[in-house]
Amino acid sequence: MDSITGFKRTNYCGDLRLCDAGKTVSVCGWVQRQRDLGGLIFVDLRDRTGIVQLSFGDSTDRAIFEKAASLRAEFVVAATGVVRERESKSQKVATGDIEIEVTELRLLAKADTPPFEIVEHSKANDMLRLKYRYLDLRRPEMQRMIALRHKIVKVCRDYFDEQGFLEIETPILTKSTPEGARDYLVPSRVHPGKFYALPQSPQQYKQLLMLSGFDRYFQIARCFRDEDLRADRQPEFTQIDLEMSFVTEDDVMGIQEGFMKRVFKDILGVDVQTPFLRMPYREAMDRFGSDKPDMRFGFELKDISDIVKDCGFAVFADAVKNGGSVRLINLDGRAADFPRKKIDKLQDFVKTYRAKGLAWTRMIDGAVTSSYAKFLTEDEQKAILDRANAKDGDLVLIVADQKDDVVFASLGALRCECAKQLGILDPNDFKFLWVTEFPMFEYSEEEGRYQAMHHPFTAPMECDADRVLTDKANVRARAYDIVLNGTELGGGSIRISTPDLQERAFQALGISDEDIRERFGHLVDAFKFGAPPHGGLAYGLDRLCMLMAGAPSIRDVIAFPKVQNASDLMMSCPDVVDQKQLDDLCIALALPQE
Ligand code: AMO
Ligand code: AMP
Repeated sequence: MDSITGFKRTNYCGDLRLCDAGKTVSVCGWVQRQRDLGGLIFVDLRDRTGIVQLSFGDSTDRAIFEKAASLRAEFVVAATGVVRERESKSQKVATGDIEIEVTELRLLAKADTPPFEIVEHSKANDMLRLKYRYLDLRRPEMQRMIALRHKIVKVCRDYFDEQGFLEIETPILTKSTPEGARDYLVPSRVHPGKFYALPQSPQQYKQLLMLSGFDRYFQIARCFRDEDLRADRQPEFTQIDLEMSFVTEDDVMGIQEGFMKRVFKDILGVDVQTPFLRMPYREAMDRFGSDKPDMRFGFELKDISDIVKDCGFAVFADAVKNGGSVRLINLDGRAADFPRKKIDKLQDFVKTYRAKGLAWTRMIDGAVTSSYAKFLTEDEQKAILDRANAKDGDLVLIVADQKDDVVFASLGALRCECAKQLGILDPNDFKFLWVTEFPMFEYSEEEGRYQAMHHPFTAPMECDADRVLTDKANVRARAYDIVLNGTELGGGSIRISTPDLQERAFQALGISDEDIRERFGHLVDAFKFGAPPHGGLAYGLDRLCMLMAGAPSIRDVIAFPKVQNASDLMMSCPDVVDQKQLDDLCIALALPQE
């Protein structure tokens, strides 16, 4: 193997152009491919900027030529040579006008045949790519996404610095923070039987920093949540976390809109319109069936409960009588795109959201067919279609359920699924929205009690504050989510900053005085020493990167992500540890029977 000593790179592969012709350059990287045409050898050399062609021919020194003949995919080489205009130019790569006639070649490392080809779009399966993530990351597509992430973080640091924010690190070994997920725990050796929790977010620390007088804080913060994973969730993820003192919602939102404007302009060249639309939670649910509506298209929900509450179709009438509702969406002008078979598929789709069925009316070429016509009077049918503003060419889809949640969840998801199937979602159309006035509490059937919808430090709206203990179902919080194209990009709130209100909020959540002392004593105490009014927000950095990169999953914008079952396939973790390590921690395992 040759040594790199004495070799000095002059250029990155992807940067060379016709204007460099005649220059002597030195490049290094990985062999993308080698073509041996007998008297001529071409080697595509790749680094993080792109690919350049190395050429070896009659005039090449024989020893160098032979070395070039031995090169295989993913060998690591360094080469010096003269840039020449190519005879047969290639449009496929940015350096396609030139090649390097090599005068010195160093073979720095050989490589086994990789388990999959290192190409722009890999056809290898995800599991294999993640097992060999370091190879997957060599692919130009992945290199671009990781570089994009870096740029977003850079703009973030610049922007918040300019706005007077200080970046302050907070501990990773800490105490449980209630963000609604399970904690990852770390056993303490020094305090046998005691555990640290990894932070679900830096929430309490950032509030305490406001009490310390830092006024404006931000952090690129690692967060850890033991929860069920999905395409936009990882067990460890990164937040752009911030907090501000002496502010109201408008101040926090204004700063965020400035940030979004800046990051989209600087990185994608996209002009984002501000201020963003604001919509109360209730309206978002009623119109879109979701607290994170995708605003790029219509198909809004309409409530028809009043029309069908006494009708002859038990499915509809009973849903209303049992406290639920009947609602519809109108895929206007799209009936032709959804023949019967496709509607049956949509029915299966809503069932995954616990809906029991999907009723429909299809209006096409003057003919009206409907899955529920025989059960309803003409007047009732007409009233439904009027409510839907239905006309020829439309498809009306209806869900009835005794649980409003089920109606909203299934129609909210169906609306997006239909838009997806119709191919009307433009990934380059960025529609931002603030969702505001969230309920302060939500009832958990599992726990049989009210829980904080955001977290227990969120302030109630001033007009609802005196009903925190008496009217939990209707108290609204000073919480806001920033939503982009159907994804919750970030969430935050104005916080409680007085001890008595904080106490009432804990009480409303059914947290005992003893528990309050044990879990939040530090915070309650701190509030007694003069807390400024404060509020903040946290973005999911991974989600922001995913949307800006147009990637289907946050996995694609994380260098070393975990899979569905929270394991890292490359490192093979989580993993067993030595008995000695367990003994040091006074831990005995009681594993479930296989
Ligand atoms: P919240 O829990 O809403 O708020 O989290 C803020 C944002 O973080 C992102 N996010 C995630 N991203 C990837 N994987 C996950 N498992 C995951 N969970 C959340 C989302 C979300 O909007 N402390 C509060 C913020 C505040 O009140 O200031 C908090 O953590 O994009
Ligand atoms: P059925 O009499 O069961 O064939 O139902 C008639 C129509 O009502 C079919 O299109 C069903 O899919 C639909 N349907 C059944 N249950 C529901 C429901 N909960 N919500 C909406 N439509 C339903």
